[in-house]
Amino acid sequence: MLMRALKCATPLPEPFRLMPSPFLPPELLNQAAAPYRPLGPFPWHFARGKLGGDPAFAGLLQRGLIPANARLLDIGCGQGLLASLLGSLTGQSPAERAWPIGWAAAPHGVQVHGIELMPRDVERARTALAHLGERARFTLGNMCTADFGQADVAVILDVLHYVDYQAQEDVLRRVQATLAPGGALLLRVGDASAGLPFRISNWVDAAVTFVRGHRLSRLYCRTLDDWQTLLRALGFAVEAIPMHQGTPFANILLVARLAPPAGSGNGG
Ligand SMILES: C[S@@+](CC[C@H](N)C(=O)[O-])C[C@H]1O[C@@H](n2cnc3c(N)ncnc32)[C@H](O)[C@@H]1O
Repeated sequence: MLMRALKCATPLPEPFRLMPSPFLPPELLNQAAAPYRPLGPFPWHFARGKLGGDPAFAGLLQRGLIPANARLLDIGCGQGLLASLLGSLTGQSPAERAWPIGWAAAPHGVQVHGIELMPRDVERARTALAHLGERARFTLGNMCTADFGQADVAVILDVLHYVDYQAQEDVLRRVQATLAPGGALLLRVGDASAGLPFRISNWVDAAVTFVRGHRLSRLYCRTLDDWQTLLRALGFAVEAIPMHQGTPFANILLVARLAPPAGSGNGG
């Protein structure tokens, strides 16, 4: 963690930008974490640690998985880190001058609706990101009952395993109904068939959720095959992308897409 923090403090020289990195470039990390600084040391250091150490944030941008101007539903959004990252992309932001070569274009104009169970996280998200106005709003609620509204992209990163299997299926069914035709669900899960890396993910998860105030008796995990089978049964076309580079975990990003509207000519 210390090494990553030091590494993130210094922009890489140009030739190194050509090397694919699973993490955000330091300029982008600094920009996305900055709104949390006035909230105090914990929210700020947490933002820097998570945005800088979790390959999901770079992975989503690098692969162009979030389209410009999308309505994005972030379920279990925590303190709104994805909204902060996307909201910091304005087209004029200094960090975009250092956009990594080979990444998809920066998605501008994304509107995020975050849903989160923990009041303290919602409060932090609202306070830190008030400057984004309509581009970032946060609802305090349980994903099992909250109104999802309408969305083009739904993101669920490391959240579904906190609720039981029936509740997971209900949430996914409601997400499917919420998405516009051609919409996508970006779902990160642990692969229960992955052995030690999966067990390490769960130990770390249990420790972090305890520290954050959750009191969970168990986690509801599935194998990668089971997740994919469930999503296909709901009508999604699914692609699995490992999303744990640089960590000891067994996390997989499932890119689950709905068919585009009939007659759109975009059948591929
Ligand atoms: C591991 S954190 C991931 C946070 C965020 N998705 C990220 O990747 O930075 C899981 C989040 O899901 C939230 N959560 C857990 N159960 C939930 C539920 N039933 N409804 C809404 N949020 C929930 C937790 O409070 C926590 O903020």
